[in-house]
Amino acid sequence: MDSSESQDESSHHNKDLLLFRRARLRDVDSIAKIYSSSIEYLDPESRDWIESIVKKKSRRLRIYVASIEDEVAGFIIVYKKRDKAYIDAFAVDPRFRGRGIGQELLNYVETVLASEGVEKVYLSVKNHNNKALGLYIKNGYRITNVVLILRSLSRDIETDILKVDNITIRLDNIKRYSFPRTKLLDTTMWSNFTWDVDEYIYRVSKEDAIALAVYKGRRLLGVARIFFEQNEVFVERLALSFYRPTESLKIVVYALKTRVVSQPTTAITIPVDSSKSALLRTLIQLGFKVIDSEYILQKELIKLRYGVDQGNVANVQHLHAVKNTEF
Ligand SMILES: CC(C)(COP(=O)(O)OP(=O)(O)OC[C@H]1O[C@@H](n2cnc3c(N)ncnc32)[C@H](O)[C@@H]1OP(=O)(O)O)[C@@H](O)C(=O)NCCC(=O)NCCS
Repeated sequence: MDSSESQDESSHHNKDLLLFRRARLRDVDSIAKIYSSSIEYLDPESRDWIESIVKKKSRRLRIYVASIEDEVAGFIIVYKKRDKAYIDAFAVDPRFRGRGIGQELLNYVETVLASEGVEKVYLSVKNHNNKALGLYIKNGYRITNVVLILRSLSRDIETDILKVDNITIRLDNIKRYSFPRTKLLDTTMWSNFTWDVDEYIYRVSKEDAIALAVYKGRRLLGVARIFFEQNEVFVERLALSFYRPTESLKIVVYALKTRVVSQPTTAITIPVDSSKSALLRTLIQLGFKVIDSEYILQKELIKLRYGVDQGNVANVQHLHAVKNTEF
């Protein structure tokens, strides 16, 4: 027997029973359940949103699961855009944690992505999630950026300084309105991956969001996608004109305050990459406070020359072996 292979290092569980594949409709309840048991570490998504992703069968947005004896043990939601991918959510059922399943699922998804030509994988981790951070670093990810979460009550946002004329504000339900395809500067790296695919998911799901577009004359200053939760407004996407982005930001925030939010005590939350310092400075000048942060991690995938038959573990293990020999 050949003992040189190191695939059996961790034998906390019977690997023959562990399978990886794309999620199916009948997995949705289990995924939603695991999602809600991990909510402290993830951004909230509803069962309906998860179901809509699975139904859509998009190449750009997928859910993969690890299953043990046909029971979902964990999942990964991943966005793909050309040669890059973004892991949006990742969790293992609390009953199955600490047995290596998370790591194997992550490796499986990376292998599938690499076989499709993806060269870089990105993800974000909330600052208190040391276990996930440790797992990613062990698997070759490195921290490349930090996202700051900024928040202000509507009434505390300073908008008097603005001279706004010739401004047109367009507000609509995201189901009826698509953002213009103009190239814009997104305040977060991740919304580059998510904004256009999410538009399709919104159309098939029951979830609602508001789309905002602000023009000065005929020039697009910026766009925002917002969802409400109780007395809070979350800006999922904020993207600004490359021409004078900080001026545009002030006017888009003014539009949010005056046209989207009706209560002065409603809080507005906006995530911004820490590298976009001029935008951060502007928001803080307008009255926003830093309330939290997340790490952005990145990993370069090894180029794979072989295709992978999704769901076939034997093939994937073969690819792992190939990957190892390339080091
Ligand atoms: C993160 C999560 C998916 C990992 O899944 P899992 O199956 O429990 O993870 P694994 O058993 O494969 O591996 C965990 C590894 O992290 C390591 N780890 C745990 N805490 C750590 C720490 N503080 N520092 C460094 N490494 C740590 C463990 O040592 C383990 O590696 P080992 O097997 O070599 O000992 C799971 O804990 C989970 O669902 N958490 C809640 C949701 C979440 O945080 N998702 C990530 C969002 S970014």
